[in-house]
Amino acid sequence: MIVNGYNSCKVADTAIIKAGARVGFRNTFCDYCVIHEDAIIGNDNYFASHSVIGSAPEHRDAIENNYKHQYKFLDVIIGDNNRINEFVTINAGAFRHTRVGDSNFILRGAHIGHDTIIGNDNTISCNALIGGHSEIENNCNLGLNSVLHQFSYMGEGAMLGMSAVVTKKKMLLPYNIYVGNPARQLKYNDYLIRKLEIDAITLNILIENYIDRYNLLNRDKDIK
Ligand SMILES: CC(C)(COP(=O)(O)OP(=O)(O)OC[C@H]1O[C@@H](n2cnc3c(N)ncnc32)[C@H](O)[C@@H]1OP(=O)(O)O)[C@@H](O)C(=O)NCCC(=O)NCCS
Repeated sequence: MIVNGYNSCKVADTAIIKAGARVGFRNTFCDYCVIHEDAIIGNDNYFASHSVIGSAPEHRDAIENNYKHQYKFLDVIIGDNNRINEFVTINAGAFRHTRVGDSNFILRGAHIGHDTIIGNDNTISCNALIGGHSEIENNCNLGLNSVLHQFSYMGEGAMLGMSAVVTKKKMLLPYNIYVGNPARQLKYNDYLIRKLEIDAITLNILIENYIDRYNLLNRDKDIK
């Protein structure tokens, strides 16, 4: 372990921080959390009991290559000020680093798949499952038990209702709410639009930018 900020952290007796993990300042590591060697952790994060950061990507080829050819998994990079609750799992990267930004609130039992990139200020509720290679911008809200197909892309301020199932190649437009299985658009996320004082012009620009990036991400991609 590289111990930059380790001495300023609260580390429970049974927390495991593996050699190779890089840890910033003032983090809290509760009992039985496991920080694997591929993790890079910023400052002021809270890892509750039994959270597991940087476990092997749940990707068959990556695991086989790791066994047979010592292929090294890529990092999990966690920013600052995140709350990561009990039994949350965040996989290491298989093809790119898995990233979690700042000030995210990740609740009990949520799973963040390999190669996923998460921005800032998101709420990821209990048992939400984020398939690998996904991208989630800022201020999103994933309701209890919601599920994202791998390679999903969630626009800023988008929300999934409880138990929503986001199927392959589904647009999740900024500041819109989606519910159901398969997920369908319910309405604008008016509460958040008001709270963040997003005006109509800004909203239109965000939606246009989202669609451009969505098309770029999905161009020529055969998503299985
Ligand atoms: C999606 C959500 C935000 C909508 O809340 P709301 O704006 O108050 O909407 P309403 O409850 O008035 O429901 C509006 C319609 O959507 C439907 N609906 C609401 N939530 C739904 C869901 N999760 N799945 C399917 N349909 C849903 C309602 O049945 C209703 O349909 P109807 O108009 O045909 O009767 C809310 O239901 C939700 O799922 N919140 C997330 C809760 C959560 O995960 N909290 C985390 C706690 S840690």
